[in-house]
Amino acid sequence: MATETSMRAVRFHEYGPPSVLVVDEAERPDPKAGEVLMRVHVAGVNPVDWKFRAGYLKEYLPLTLPHTPGLDVAGTVEALGDGVTGFAIGDRVFGRGVGTYAEFAVAPATTIARIPEGVSFEQAAPLHVGGETAWVALFDTAHLEPGQRLLVQGGAGGVGSIAVQLGHWKGAYVIATASAANVEFVRSLGADDVIDYTSVNVEDAVHDVDVVLDTVGGEVTAQSWSVLKPGGILVAVAGMPDTETAAARGVRTSGVGHPAETRPVLEQLAQLVASGDVKPQIGQIFPLENARQAHAASETGHGRGRILLKVAD
Ligand SMILES: NC(=O)c1ccc[n+]([C@@H]2O[C@H](COP(=O)([O-])OP(=O)(O)OC[C@H]3O[C@@H](n4cnc5c(N)ncnc54)[C@H](OP(=O)(O)O)[C@@H]3O)[C@@H](O)[C@H]2O)c1
Repeated sequence: MATETSMRAVRFHEYGPPSVLVVDEAERPDPKAGEVLMRVHVAGVNPVDWKFRAGYLKEYLPLTLPHTPGLDVAGTVEALGDGVTGFAIGDRVFGRGVGTYAEFAVAPATTIARIPEGVSFEQAAPLHVGGETAWVALFDTAHLEPGQRLLVQGGAGGVGSIAVQLGHWKGAYVIATASAANVEFVRSLGADDVIDYTSVNVEDAVHDVDVVLDTVGGEVTAQSWSVLKPGGILVAVAGMPDTETAAARGVRTSGVGHPAETRPVLEQLAQLVASGDVKPQIGQIFPLENARQAHAASETGHGRGRILLKVAD
């Protein structure tokens, strides 16, 4: 049973498969200057969480173990660190926190925003990693304009499902790829054209695209270059941008550079959710105790929208 200074937190004490995730009683974090302590209601489960857990990133970004995974969060403000203004105890907030698979987590005040009235914790939780990535990729990196042709590779996923809706909202002609089971789902998000990548060769079916948002990587990236118009851009979300290939083909490429302060983007995304223009798509919801199953589901690489962990009502 958690006490005033402790909490339940999912942690891993060693890198490995989903079974290394355990629920521990851990110390509640204290908000440092510029940080907010949140009572977590919902945490998002992102592929990067299990990439860290499996140790795939340990050469570049070694973790101090034990480590609590989790970036996406929606919760209520519990305490404010020195110098934080603009938030009050009890405010409903969402954004990017640190170690959000827990009853409490801190976040820099610059990476969270208020949840508008009428928007639930479940709708807000997927908006940082999925929504902010899609926004920065489409608007700040590719400068997508109304009437342009956009191809979203992986239209059903946590990033892709928001990118399809943002592209539609912007007035672009949105083409997206999905497996057969997700074709109608992705169409319902506002895609003008959905390609079942299991039966149709995207290179044969798609052409004259201004912007490719590639959330899959590997072979899918290799099959994305020829669909671009000369001068078009491929934004690589799931891998490193291949500038040599882009130059050889007369197109451009870029990764996604996340700003240190994401609150302005989060506020715009939250307003689009409040107005009904963007509907965050929720895959499966697991209780905190079932983080192992949540990771195993995410690791399949297939599904719809964002997997969530429900921590509190
Ligand atoms: N660079 C960054 O800052 C950044 C930020 C966010 C995410 N990422 C990375 O981007 C990737 C996607 O993230 P996510 O959160 O969207 O993952 P996700 O929620 O797990 O979604 C992955 C989606 O990819 C689709 N997919 C799988 N194979 C496909 C194929 N061959 N063609 C088209 N679609 C395919 C799946 O749909 P079906 O079920 O229909 O196959 C699934 O919905 C991950 O590698 C993640 O680590 C990077």
